[in-house]
Formats: sequence, structure tokens, C-alpha cells
Amino acid sequence: MSQLFNPLTLRGVTLRNRLAVSPMCQYEAEDGFVTSYHLVHYGKLALGGFGLVMVEATAVSPEARITHGDVGLWNDTQVEGLAGIASFLKRHGAAPGIQIAHAGPKAAMQRPYYGDGPLTAEDHARGDHPWPIVSASAQPVEKGWLVPAALDADGIAKVRADFAAAARRALAAGFEVIELHCAHGYLLNSFLSPLTNRRSDAYGGSPENRMRLPLEIARDLRAIWPQDKPLFVRISAVDGSRAGVTIEDSVAFARELAGIGVDVVDCSSGGIGRPYEHPTGYGHQVPYAERVKAETGLGAMAVGLIVDPRQAEAIVASGQADLVAIGREALRDPNFAFHAEQALGAANPETPFANWPPQIGWWLNGRENKLRQLGPVSPAGQVAA
Ligand SMILES: Cc1cc2nc3c(=O)[nH]c(=O)nc-3n(C[C@H](O)[C@H](O)[C@H](O)COP(=O)(O)O)c2cc1C
Repeated sequence: MSQLFNPLTLRGVTLRNRLAVSPMCQYEAEDGFVTSYHLVHYGKLALGGFGLVMVEATAVSPEARITHGDVGLWNDTQVEGLAGIASFLKRHGAAPGIQIAHAGPKAAMQRPYYGDGPLTAEDHARGDHPWPIVSASAQPVEKGWLVPAALDADGIAKVRADFAAAARRALAAGFEVIELHCAHGYLLNSFLSPLTNRRSDAYGGSPENRMRLPLEIARDLRAIWPQDKPLFVRISAVDGSRAGVTIEDSVAFARELAGIGVDVVDCSSGGIGRPYEHPTGYGHQVPYAERVKAETGLGAMAVGLIVDPRQAEAIVASGQADLVAIGREALRDPNFAFHAEQALGAANPETPFANWPPQIGWWLNGRENKLRQLGPVSPAGQVAA
């Protein structure tokens, strides 16, 4: 029996399977507002059978955006559009999740397909202008990037308040899972990593101090997010450079998260320190999820170059992770989850489309009988004369 298609209950939320859509910015928002693009994009992933659909990194303030195209939840008027998405996802069997984020030193960047670096004159001409950015320390991502201001006490208090307000809005929008983004070199990662945190106050120096702000925010979210709804945290389990955060540091961080009542650690990596000094093959981050799960007892989500249903099944069946997040492969095939169900033999062989939306599945089950009678299609595909 497939373990990937064994439902998972986290607090009061049951996921129909262990396949999640990894949070992926679409850079299509307008002033932080979602558009019909987002409803179609996330909607098709729910219609494609995923157990959890995580809406992309959603900025907690305008200055927290990576790009001008980021989704935001800094304003009550931004709730309605996201509520439409959450309700659609739920209606079609996917738990609606949302990642909330602050880009920190990687704010005010180019949309990746325009270059993935600091904004240039060409971006300015497109209307994308930079804004003042913040980080743990006044250290740019690289030479030539914007220099962030180190957050002071008031700035830290504002960031905490912004995350709390965004979480309340996510709840009002009807999301069931919330994920705190502590990965990929963004603000909270900049506090966690010794490569970017050069502070000498209570938020810098020792591992305890570097963890302080992410843990304060995780605690704030746990107090806001209802007890029957799960809280996820995405981490960069290791920095790109081996001189940065190690898996042992991340296990220690995850232990603290467990104490706060976090349910799942979503184990990514990198974003700080180049070149990336770890292996990058299929499922290269799975061992991080495995370590976090084994050493903390927390739920773990594996992500990164998981592209094949059998690979995803093996990760869950072997107990390396509780959930598998699919990123780019879900962009290539929004029906990945339903295709995986069939590929793994988890669908009823007589009615392989039974779990698809009935508007689609009923027709495809009917056609399946016909296709079986006909056998494989010939290259010409026509009935012989
Ligand atoms: C278009 C795109 C946008 C992304 N945006 C986010 C994001 O908003 N938040 C995040 O934590 N990771 C983001 N990521 C990283 C993915 O969630 C995922 O971790 C990564 O793509 C590796 O998984 P994959 O090999 O299945 O694609 C993004 C990746 C892509 C391709």
C-alpha cells in the first residue's frame, strides 16, 4: 500500500496525501494583491491532486518583498483575493497553506527571469525601483547589491508585529497551514547564519542569540495560529558554504521549534554563502529532513529535485520525511499528484481517475475502457480503412 497516498493528519487538518506544492513565487502580484493568475495557478494544482498547496512567499510588509511582483499580506484589503484562493483549494480537496516571509537583504531584487540580481536601469525603466532594505547586519548579499540597514530594536519590534498581523490576515483568509520562511538568505535566515549575522547585541553572536528573532516570531505565530491548525517552518538546513550553518545547528534550532509547538520543519538549504558546497543530486536535501525528524521527533517535509513518484514514495515509506514538497516538477506537471497515484498503483485500476474532479474523472474513466479495447495508438492514430 502506498505510504505517499496515506492521508496525514496534522492537528485538526487532514491532508489527502503526502504531496505538497512547494512555495514558489510567481512574481505576478500587483502592489501585493493576487490576481486571476494566482487563482488559476494554485487552483490547477489543487485540481491536480496535491494534499497541500502552499501559496508562495507572501510579504509581511511592502519592504519585505523580494520583487515588485510578490504577493503581500500587509494590508486588510489584501485578504479577499487570497481568501478566494484558499476557499477554492479547500473546495477541491487540497489543504490551503501560505508561506509568510520577509526578504531582508534580498529585498528589492529583479524578478528572476530579468536577471535574479539587484535592480538595474532596465528594471527601473519597467517601473521596478528599489527601496531601503534591512537585514541582521549592514552587509550586502554580494558586492554591488543594495546595502541593508541593520535592524535596530524598533525595527525588530516592527518586523515581529508585521509577521503577527500577516498571520492574523492569513487566518482570516481561511488558510489552514502557515509556514514561516526562515530559509534562503532572507531576513530570518540572515539572523540565523553566522555568515550574515555580525551583531553584538542579544540577537547576534552565540547560536542562542542568532536563533532569538526567528524563535520569537515562531512563538508569536503559534499564539495566533489556532491550536487545531499546523505551523510549518522552512529552514536552510545548511548554508551554501560549509563555514556557515551546519545540520547540527539546524537540529538544535528544530529542537527549539518543537518546544514552541511547531509541527513540521520544511528542510531546504542554501541562500547564503557561495559557491554551494554540498551535493546537489536528486533528493539532495532529503538527508536533512531525515536528521531533523529522527533527532527531534518533529514532522519533516523533504524538498529539492524530487521529480519521480517512486522517489517520493520511497522517502515517505522509509520514514525519512512525512511530506514531500514538489517545486518545479509541479510547474511542469500540475497533475503530478494524480499521475503519481496512478504510477504507484494507488488508484483503483478499474477507475483510475476516480479521485480526479468528477467533471474530468468521469469522462476519463469512460474513455479508459475504450482505450483499453483499442490498445496502443498507432503513429497514424486512425481507424484502418
Ligand atoms: C519559481 C520558483 C519560485 C520559488 N519561490 C519560493 C518561495 O516563494 N519560497 C520558498 O521557500 N522557496 C521558493 N522556491 C524554492 C522551491 O520552493 C523549492 O524549494 C525548490 O525549487 C527546490 O525544489 P524542486 O527541485 O522540486 O523545484 C522557489 C522555486 C522556484 C522554481
